Amino acid sequence: MAQAYTIRDAAAAIHNGALVVFPTETVYGVGAAVYNEDAIAKIFEVKDRPRFDPLIVHIADLTQVTDVTGDFPEPARRLAQRFWPGPLTLVLPKAVPIPALVTAGLASVAVRMPSHPLALELIQATKTPLAAPSANRFGGVSPTTLSAARAELGGSVEVFLDGGSCAVGIESTIIGFTEGEPVLLRPGGLPLEELEAVIGHIRIPTGTEAIRQTSPGQSFRHYAPRMPLRLWAPSSPPPADAGRAILLTVLPLETRSFAHVRTLAPDGNLRVAAAQLFNALRRLDETDFKSGYVCLGPDTGLGRAINDRLQRAADNPLPSKAPDMPPTLRNQNSNN
Ligand code: TXA
Ligand code: MG
Repeated sequence: MAQAYTIRDAAAAIHNGALVVFPTETVYGVGAAVYNEDAIAKIFEVKDRPRFDPLIVHIADLTQVTDVTGDFPEPARRLAQRFWPGPLTLVLPKAVPIPALVTAGLASVAVRMPSHPLALELIQATKTPLAAPSANRFGGVSPTTLSAARAELGGSVEVFLDGGSCAVGIESTIIGFTEGEPVLLRPGGLPLEELEAVIGHIRIPTGTEAIRQTSPGQSFRHYAPRMPLRLWAPSSPPPADAGRAILLTVLPLETRSFAHVRTLAPDGNLRVAAAQLFNALRRLDETDFKSGYVCLGPDTGLGRAINDRLQRAADNPLPSKAPDMPPTLRNQNSNN
């Protein structure tokens, strides 16, 4: 049995420069005190994460924003007041004392206030913002349960806080505020429509701009199970190996072609689909199927983030003409 740690243990560990895996409402994170450069360096080591990929700084109180950012533009402030604590990350001009390692040398810093009570308690107990990426090894699937987090980092991190299953299940939505107008850097657990209802239009990078690494953490293939996964649309004929393959679909689907079908949202509720998504990807590798297919869902609301992650998990690019598969930010920021 692994040892159970309390908030007090975890805060002490952070003060001693150790890493702590903790739950958030989106996914589990692996955190260190934002000013402790040695501990931050360890985060990159245990994840095998390239150092050009910056970390999100987690705060527990709006007053901590001024510790990490140089400027808090009005629309960003309105989003923070409305949606924090919650699955929203704001990229803002960086405050000078934040180590360059945290922001990968960028002039901006990503900040978020998570809503999971244990995350908030941990930040409050350490009295310092925590830099924390998702608690998976680079390129893997973000953990949404303690056991998934242990499977990823159990060999290299000692302290884990148990917060049960993550309610949202998909990483935070990231909005950039360093270009004069708000930009969607990563679709996530807070739908774009809800954000636009508060601050108006948010630009979605497209084409070459989207490819040009708006956020450094981008990479095409991510969230990838070991099983080869390919996108499939019901408008296409079933693949040749369908009879030996498993299909993961967001919404219920009429098909008898596949050996097995798993539906993320049997009742059509995309919140359920998001909460199940990463577990479903992990569980693919527990089956005996040699290959899998993925059928995307609607590209609105939470569906935008779900499709984004599924497209990154798959091997094949989107078919160029797929009217039932609208383009999403497949080359934006991802899980690292
Ligand atoms: O829900 C979440 O956001 C989770 C939980 C643990 O809070 N965290 C998370 O962190 O997903 P991570 O490191 O796996 O993904 C953060 C993404 C990275 O792709 C990174 O490139 C981007 O945020 N990012 C961080 N700082 C940035 C910056 N200054 N400008 C643009 N993108 C940034
Ligand atoms: Mg990640």
